[in-house]
Formats: sequence, C-alpha cells, structure tokens
Amino acid sequence: MTYDEVVFGRRSIRGYLRKPVPRALIREVIEMAMRAPSSLNTQPWNFHVVTGEPLDRIRAGNTERNLAGVPHSREFRIHGEYAGDHRERQIGIAKQLFAAMGIERHDAAARQDWVLRGFRQFDAPVAIVVTYDRSIHGGDIAPFDCGAVANALVNAAWSRGLGCVINSQGIMQSPVVREHAGIPEDQVIMICIAMGWPDESFPANAVVSTRKAVDDAVTFVGFED
Ligand SMILES: Cc1cc2nc3c(=O)[nH]c(=O)nc-3n(C[C@H](O)[C@H](O)[C@H](O)COP(=O)(O)O)c2cc1C
Repeated sequence: MTYDEVVFGRRSIRGYLRKPVPRALIREVIEMAMRAPSSLNTQPWNFHVVTGEPLDRIRAGNTERNLAGVPHSREFRIHGEYAGDHRERQIGIAKQLFAAMGIERHDAAARQDWVLRGFRQFDAPVAIVVTYDRSIHGGDIAPFDCGAVANALVNAAWSRGLGCVINSQGIMQSPVVREHAGIPEDQVIMICIAMGWPDESFPANAVVSTRKAVDDAVTFVGFED
C-alpha cells in the first residue's frame, strides 16, 4: 500500500472477524509505530497487548461498572462537555455511525447497546493499552507523544490489512484495565486501541468520517503568493 492509500483509506473499525491476530504481526505493527517522533526522543510509551481471557475480564468489568453507573475514571486531565464546532463534529460522526447501523434517534436500547459495544472494545480480538511513564506525568508532552505513536500504530496496522479504533471507552474504567492487564503503578494509562481483522459486512466499518476544510485549519504566514 502506498502512503496515500493508507492515510486516505484508513477508517476506524468497529466490527471484527472472530479470527485471531498473530502475535508476530502485532509486534511488527508496533515496531513500525515506534518509529514515531517523540519529544527529545524520550519514547515515553508502553504497549500492553491484551487478548483472550484477560481481555474478556476487562470487557466484563467495563460493562458491569458502566451499567452500575460507576463514574468514569481516567488517569489524566479531561475537559468538560464539548460545545460549538467540536460538539457539532461529535454529533456528526455519531449520526453517521447510527445511520449506518440503522439505530434510530429515540431507540434508547439500541443506543445503549452501541455504547456497551464500545466498552467491550467492539468485541475485537486484541486491545492495546497505551501507557506512558509516570516519572514524566503532569506535563502535556507525554500524552502528545502517545498520540503520535497511536496514529502511527493504526496506520501501520491498516497497511497490513488490520483495522483499529483508538478509543477512550476502553480506558474510562481505568482501574479495571490496570487490574486485568497487570499494568504497573509506574505507568499512566493513556488510551486503548482495539485491533483485529475488519468485518467487511459490518455497516459502521464503511463510514468515512468528514474533515473540516484545510483552509479552516491552516494559516499561512509570510508567503508571497
Ligand atoms: C483519543 C481518541 C479517542 C477516541 N475514542 C473513541 C471511543 O471511545 N469510541 C469510538 O467509537 N471511537 C473513538 N475514537 C475514534 C474517533 O471517533 C474517530 O477517530 C473519528 O471519528 C474519525 O474517524 P476515523 O478514525 O474513521 O477517521 C477515538 C479517537 C481518538 C483519537
């Protein structure tokens, strides 16, 4: 695949085949991802690749706690509700996904089902929990570096035919993840990436998310043309 094919072709995948992903392939994808740049080349990231029974325990723990109304707990600062353009875009992708899945606006049960699917890591065969070293917790640069490596990882996976969805849902109940993935206390849980072979018949996998116009994002300074 060319770079263009990867970048323009990649989509978040939220439905997977029940087919295991070879450990060697995951390793290869992570090795590619780890070519990502990082501040001062600190490479603060760690990857906990979870499958099988431990992942099922995480799915069960996430589901149970969310159904019980346990407040979400993440290990880094989060902002409040989105507003304005950000809220519009949040609603936009939700509408696209719900339309693809045939979920009606007022169908509370179907919506809840979809949310719980996220907390189960979309039933993916693999979940990769990205953490960073606690020794540099408190600044914003380590989360930035984790973002760079996460993007590199989903693109590397796509180039090998694998689908992913980076997701906060998987780590919103971070104590569950920490316990069942055995994540040491000297690491901060940042994000989760569900991974597996895309199920081409799963409607949401066909959704192509929109992007704001380049001219709305870019300011050119000092150009003469
Ligand atoms: C930090 C982060 C958190 C995300 N959390 C979720 C999530 O919890 N559930 C979900 O379905 N998608 C999640 N996504 C996927 C985004 O919705 C998706 O990347 C965005 O809509 C653009 O779509 P695309 O990845 O198909 O291009 C997350 C993405 C990022 C980068």
